Amino acid sequence: MNFLDAAATHLANGGCVAIPTETVYGLAARIDRPEGIKAIFKIKERPTFDPLIVHVSHIDELKNVVSEWSPLAAKLAAKFWPGPLTMVLAKHPSLDAMITSGLSTVAVRMPAHSMALDLIKKSGPLAAPSANRFGHTSPTTIEHVAHEFPESVSRKEVLLLDGGPCTVGIESTVCRVAEGGVEILRPGGVTAEQLKSAGAAVTELKHDKASPGHMLHHYMPVKPLIVGWNVDFADLFSLLEKSKWSEFGVQSLSDITQIELSDDARIAARMLYSELRSGDAKPGRVLFLNRNLDQGGADDMSLWHAIDDRLKRAARFQLER
Ligand code: TXA
Ligand code: MG
Repeated sequence: MNFLDAAATHLANGGCVAIPTETVYGLAARIDRPEGIKAIFKIKERPTFDPLIVHVSHIDELKNVVSEWSPLAAKLAAKFWPGPLTMVLAKHPSLDAMITSGLSTVAVRMPAHSMALDLIKKSGPLAAPSANRFGHTSPTTIEHVAHEFPESVSRKEVLLLDGGPCTVGIESTVCRVAEGGVEILRPGGVTAEQLKSAGAAVTELKHDKASPGHMLHHYMPVKPLIVGWNVDFADLFSLLEKSKWSEFGVQSLSDITQIELSDDARIAARMLYSELRSGDAKPGRVLFLNRNLDQGGADDMSLWHAIDDRLKRAARFQLER
């Protein structure tokens, strides 16, 4: 049996499969297998109030997932799918309420990864959050997933599908699609500019109204991450009080692992989580990442906006010059 058939069988038996997508790896189960959906929450230690995204390979598969498909939703799907855009739409009454945490809406997207699409064609729509423990850094390689859930993987509760490193590297843009336009609940791989150029009126949401699971502390590496906004490594010690350093157990510069971010927004997004994970694996007590705010041209400001959103949530501490 080839690996895709094995994955489809595991899903049919109510199991979970780690699937590659262009954004980050997902931990997937079939939408018609409640035991699989339940296992996702358990394995991730995810609170049940945080709803999952349903992934499809064709819009026909949305038939029993959403109950409305507005002209704007159709237009955005035609323009951005497959790709890193998640649309929040009215839920179909027959869709398992566990997937949507009891909400009347459901988040849907079509991932741009052939392996994920092939698996969905065999198995039907798959509910999948990012394949990381709740609140932790998202995985962009299959090794990251294996590292997140060693026990579930060794017990063969979770089957791993290796589709190579993710090309986008941060999660999809989540937006609520309503009559007049879209409301961005989580900035991501599709930018506000791209949505505007597709003819959608775009509003960006305030912090307190974001997605149920998009919390202030999220995407966190294991070690405390200090994010500097235009802060040189050389100025670090003078900017942060001694007491703060001892709180982090830092005695000298060698206790601090520096994380470098590319000047190119696309590369910075692609590498961010992987760099945070490499930082965790190095010696040192804290991670330091400086975000040079002069990075990048006007074109990729929205992608920097998505990256900055993740940095703010991943940071244990932020410093400004
Ligand atoms: O790129 C991605 O979106 C990845 C890949 C695997 O597709 N998935 C992902 O899933 O990031 P997750 O569960 O880590 O994040 C989904 C976000 C959460 O913040 C969740 O609260 C929000 O989408 N969400 C899901 N359903 C929603 C709904 N009905 N209304 C509002 N927000 C929703
Ligand atoms: Mg996540």
